[in-house]
Amino acid sequence: MNSNDTIRPSSGLSRRGFLAASAGAAFVAAAGDFPGTAQAAAPFVLPPLPFAENALEPVISARTIGFHYGKHHKAYVDNLNKLTAGTEYAGMALEKIITATAGQADKAGIFNNAAQVWNHTFYWKSLRPQGGGEPPPVLKQKIEASFGTLEACKKELANAAMTQFGSGWAWLVLDGGALKVVKTGNADVPLTKGMKPLLTIDVWEHAYYLDYQNRRADYVDALLNKLVNWDFAAQNLG
Ligand SMILES: [Fe+2]
Repeated sequence: MNSNDTIRPSSGLSRRGFLAASAGAAFVAAAGDFPGTAQAAAPFVLPPLPFAENALEPVISARTIGFHYGKHHKAYVDNLNKLTAGTEYAGMALEKIITATAGQADKAGIFNNAAQVWNHTFYWKSLRPQGGGEPPPVLKQKIEASFGTLEACKKELANAAMTQFGSGWAWLVLDGGALKVVKTGNADVPLTKGMKPLLTIDVWEHAYYLDYQNRRADYVDALLNKLVNWDFAAQNLG
């Protein structure tokens, strides 16, 4: 699969390693494969941002984060709670809901909102103030083994982000021991294909339009050079 391939969800795939232990309405799950992306089950909660709303300025403004996190991400959480109330999904780990509903037309609403909750939590962790720079050695070696150079990896990520038609996501993933860049449309997430996400770039217009208007390339370039959290990606190697 190359960077121009688009992943579509499929059913029947399961993910290992997602352990959810409830301790009341707001609990922390031991989703060890993805540090910091653990989600509460029934009711789902909006996880705290890992930084202040203005911490990514001037690359991403507090105004953008305010809408993106406080309105969009929150709405996915609220919608998921409404859609799963009283169903078999109400007490289920988020990743399990995603893999259980992917590709099922009659479950599209639950899938889309569950995946968007997960994707956004993962996106915030993929960013940090004063990010960019050099990845930790363990990740840099893998990047060079798969792409040749860090610059080639970033170029492929930027290309995936730019060529995703309409809303979606660009991802660095671990797939069968090698790193790959893939893109997904709308809410789709590489988890449904058994790939392990390492980091993601949100290319929905709500992620950049207030700051960059139609200049998606400028947003992606600034994110990759100034905000990307290579430490988070390295942690996700497991
Ligand atoms: Fe978004």
